[in-house]
Parts: sequence; structure tokens; C-alpha cells
Amino acid sequence: MCGIFGYAGNEPCLHIITAGLRKLEYRGYDSAGVMVYDDAVQVAKNTGKVDDLLPHTHDLSARATIGMGHTRWASHGKATAANAHPHWTPAAAIVHNGIIENHAELRATLSDDNIAFQSETDTEVVLHLVVQALQSQPDPLIAFSSVMRQLKGLYGLAMFFACDPHRIYISRKGLPLAIAAGKDAHLFSSDPLALAEHSSDFMFPADATIVVLERQRLALYDYDGEQLPLPVAQHLQVPTQKIDKGSYRHFMLKEIHEQGLVLANNIHRLFDFAQLRPRAEMLALQKIDMQRVKRIKIVGCGTSYHAALLAAVFAEEQLHIESLAEVAHELRYRRALLNDQTLIVALSQSGETADTLSCIEHARSRGCQTLAICNSPHSTLARTCDALIELNCGPEIGVASTKAFTTTVLIWYLFVLAVRSAHARPLTKDAHNLRKLPLLIDYVLNSTAQIESVARQYRQARNFIYIGRGPSFPIALESALKLKEISYIHAEGYAGGELKHGPIALIDHDMPVLVVAPQDDYFLRIVANAGEVKARDGAVILLGNPKNRELRALSDTIIPCPDINQPLLQAIVCAVPLQLFAYYLALEKGTDIDQPRHLAKSVTVE
Ligand code: G6P
Repeated sequence: MCGIFGYAGNEPCLHIITAGLRKLEYRGYDSAGVMVYDDAVQVAKNTGKVDDLLPHTHDLSARATIGMGHTRWASHGKATAANAHPHWTPAAAIVHNGIIENHAELRATLSDDNIAFQSETDTEVVLHLVVQALQSQPDPLIAFSSVMRQLKGLYGLAMFFACDPHRIYISRKGLPLAIAAGKDAHLFSSDPLALAEHSSDFMFPADATIVVLERQRLALYDYDGEQLPLPVAQHLQVPTQKIDKGSYRHFMLKEIHEQGLVLANNIHRLFDFAQLRPRAEMLALQKIDMQRVKRIKIVGCGTSYHAALLAAVFAEEQLHIESLAEVAHELRYRRALLNDQTLIVALSQSGETADTLSCIEHARSRGCQTLAICNSPHSTLARTCDALIELNCGPEIGVASTKAFTTTVLIWYLFVLAVRSAHARPLTKDAHNLRKLPLLIDYVLNSTAQIESVARQYRQARNFIYIGRGPSFPIALESALKLKEISYIHAEGYAGGELKHGPIALIDHDMPVLVVAPQDDYFLRIVANAGEVKARDGAVILLGNPKNRELRALSDTIIPCPDINQPLLQAIVCAVPLQLFAYYLALEKGTDIDQPRHLAKSVTVE
């Protein structure tokens, strides 16, 4: 999603900025732009990738030492060059991440009706308001802060003024902006990852503050212009090495194949096989007062929400504490019962999902304890919650989440075991299953050819229904989402028992139904649902143990999936072949698998 990168220093900065933008590419975007200053504001913008922008930067000054760039994910106005940032006039330029909610109202306050808007964006309104304020108040800090006071919504933005050409003015509310010192320079970005090759120390300015950044100096102000002490820099281990696909065709395929190892590493990190117990201290247990918890709410968006659905059922069964999963943006805006007896668990690969962050802010204001399970220890979510358990699954680049999903489920399983086992017997059976899990994932990954062949068989399908029961129901939802995201094929997930309450009307020979059927407590019921589909000429694809007689009697098309006698771990095992199934169908369709259309890896707007 939108990403910001800027530089004020001693070196020619155009290539520094475009290199910074490349580091933001993984977030997903549809256009990009860059601005430098060398006696005049100079801007280049284009739709598409940073590579598509580069030919347009040839006319920009190669000796400019101050500038900023942006990757845009369209929210207000289409993905066009005109709507790409920076927006600019000869007096100023702006880059912005987020949404200015009151932009329409603010536009009406612009006194000069002759202002010619070049774009449809909310951002350009801010630009003209500040430029107008500069006419009556020539101090950029005063002009900038007077407009910042009027903004509603969540944002991170930066402005350059031709009248003050050695400085950049930066402000944020709710969305991340990191500042770092480089060699004779200061830099800023919406993601510390983009700054990591310049420094390992980052400042994170508080909400509703202004950073005035120049080559050798930083200053912090509030929106009334009062100077504040600078935030203490935090030392973070942000990976600097280039992440490549290795021999894989896509990051997503690589990440699917990493799961055996990633899960094994996490199991050994978090479970003590000598003591037959989870390592409670590494699961952040000492930071959460579980005695106080009367209710658990587990929130996330997209794939992380599907992990939350699995997590909530397991927590309630094992801990006997009422537990509910909810999409973060729904919990945020309803009158939910939240208090100091509530534990809110936020699941997020990126830790920057605006919907999840805003839900956590809300929960904190109600006195809830908060726990983040997150892949990014330097993210806003990780820094905001009372406790953090890191996913430790390595960078996930493919927009469609795979290894972060299975690792989140594993970590929740271990967290619940840790809470439960404080006074319990050694977990011999769980230890056995944990040893087995990575082996089963490897078994699935070795069946890739078979999965690919089933996908090829269905390359003409335009719709899919996925069904599952118990823990396989969230897997049906997640697998349908995976297919939609990367192949653009319409797919819906249902609880098996729900089929007869509506979706069965869709069944005919053109409607493949993928049945998630591991050998668990729900097996006979889901087999009965598959029978209902078959009786109506639907094509049944089964996910399950190919040696099982009931399954073989139902369909010839079986995606192999081994059994494990633990519901959450079984869900992990079932997820993997269906990730591969979605991947190979998308490959047949020739879509942009790692960066599917309209999607972003890091969704930083609400
Ligand atoms: C976006 C991505 C999804 C992801 C969701 C939540 O929508 O496209 O793949 O599941 O964000 O992301 P998070 O980083 O919070 O897990």
C-alpha cells in the first residue's frame, strides 16, 4: 500500500529515493512518483512499478540532495499518473499515506475558487490548503501546523517548501513514519525496512507531531508549534539482505515450501521437549495477567481473521474462557463489551494493518490487555500491544499470506498449551504431534505434482465452493480466499452443514465443490455433505487421506492430506495443499501471483 521515502543530505539523492521505493514495493502499489529540488521543484510520476517510473526521471536533476518519493495504492481516484504522488506546485510538494476523511469539507474552505486541481485525490486538498496558508503566513511550520490541526483521519505525510529548500516537514496520525540518520543525512519512510541500509536506529514520532528534518538537524513540534524533545531512537534488527525467490518461480511458492522448516524452527524455539512443556517466557505469558481474563477477543483481517476463527474455538475449548473471533474493523466500530477483564489478541503478519491498529487503540482505551502475534517486531502493532509473540517465519513477500497463516495457528496452539499447562502434567501427546507436524507438511509438499494435476483439470472453472466442518470450516474460508486473491476465480467457503441452507441451489455439473475432509470428529458429517453434492451432479474434489475407503467411494479426485490427531495441527496440515491448489490454478490463469491486482501486502488505510 502507499509508501513514503524521503532524504535530505549531502549526496545526490534521486537514486537513493528510487532504491528506497523499491524496498516498499512488496507492500503492493499501482503507481509511483518522485520529487527532487534543485533550484526548482522537479517531479516525475507514472502508473505501474518503480521500473516504469525510472525512464521518466531522466529529466530530473542528478545533483539534487533533497527529495522524496511515493508508491501509491489508489483510494481516492483511479491509478493514473495525475493521481500519483507527489502532488505539487512550484511552491511546495506533498506525499501522503492514509485517508483525509474531511477532504471534501476542507476543499470547500479553500478561498481561491480558481485553484486548478490536477488530481482527484484527498492529498491535493492538503497541498493547496498549506500553499494558501503560506500566503498569509510565510513561516512554513506555522502554515503547515495550522492545516494539520484541521485534518481528520489517519495519515502519514511529508511536505517540501521551495521557500525553505533544505528542510522537509513530516507529520503523522495513526499511521507509521520512521526517521533515521544516515551518512551526513536524515531520511524518513513509512517502513523502517526501507531505511535499514542507512541505519539500524529509528525514531518513531508520536501522533499529531511535526518533525522538521534537514541534513544535520531534526526538530519536533506539536500542532501548536511548541518544540518537544525528540523521541528516543530505537535500535532494531531490520533485515537488510536482498530477499530473492531462489529457484522458485514466485515468492508465494517459495513461502509455501518454507513452511515445514519454519514450523519446525518455531516448535523448537517455543516448546521444551526435555520438559515436555511450552517455553512460557517466550510465549509472553509473564506479560499477560491471565487470572484477570474473563473474555478473549481475537481480531485480524483477511487471512489473519481466518487464523483468529481457529484460535477462538480452540481457546474456548481448552481454557474455558469465552473466546470470540472478529474482523478488527467490525469490533472497532460497534459497542462491544470491552474492559480490563478482556484480553484482545491481534493477529497480523505485517503489524501495520490500519483496521487492526485502530481496533487495538480502541481496546486499549477501554482498559483491555493486548497481545500481538505478529511477524514484524518493529511494526506499530508490536510496539503498541502489552505483549508480543513474534512469528519468526522470515519475510513474507507474496501478497497472499501462507507461511504467516500456518505459523500464527501454531503459535496460538502453543500459547494456549502454555496457559493450560502451567500446573498440568507433561504434554507427552502434544510433544509427539509437534514432532510429527513438520514431517506431514513435507509429505504434502512432496505431493505437489498430484495437486498441480488436479488444478490443471479445473482450469476452466469459473466458480468454486469450499466446505469444511469444525476446524476445517475456517480452512474452507481461507482456501477460498487464497483462490480468489491470486487466480481471480470466484470462490466461497461454507460450513458443511450450511450447504443445505442455500448454497446447494448453486450445485450443478459446472460447480466444483472442494470438501475439506480430514479424519476427525466431523468426518462422517462432511462425507454426508459431499454425498449431497454428488447426488446433484456437482464435481466433488476431496481433501483427505487417499487411503480412506469412504473418500474413494465418493470421488476419484482426491488431494492427498495426511491425518494428525489434533484439530489445530490438522487445520495447518489441511491449509498447505490448498495453498498449492490455489497457486497452480493461478499459474494456469497466468495472473500476477505475488502481487495480485488491487491487493496490497500491507493495508495501511482503514
Ligand atoms: C491484506 C492482504 C491479506 C492479509 C490482510 C491482513 O488484505 O492482502 O493477505 O491477510 O491484509 O494482513 P496482516 O498483515 O494484518 O495479517
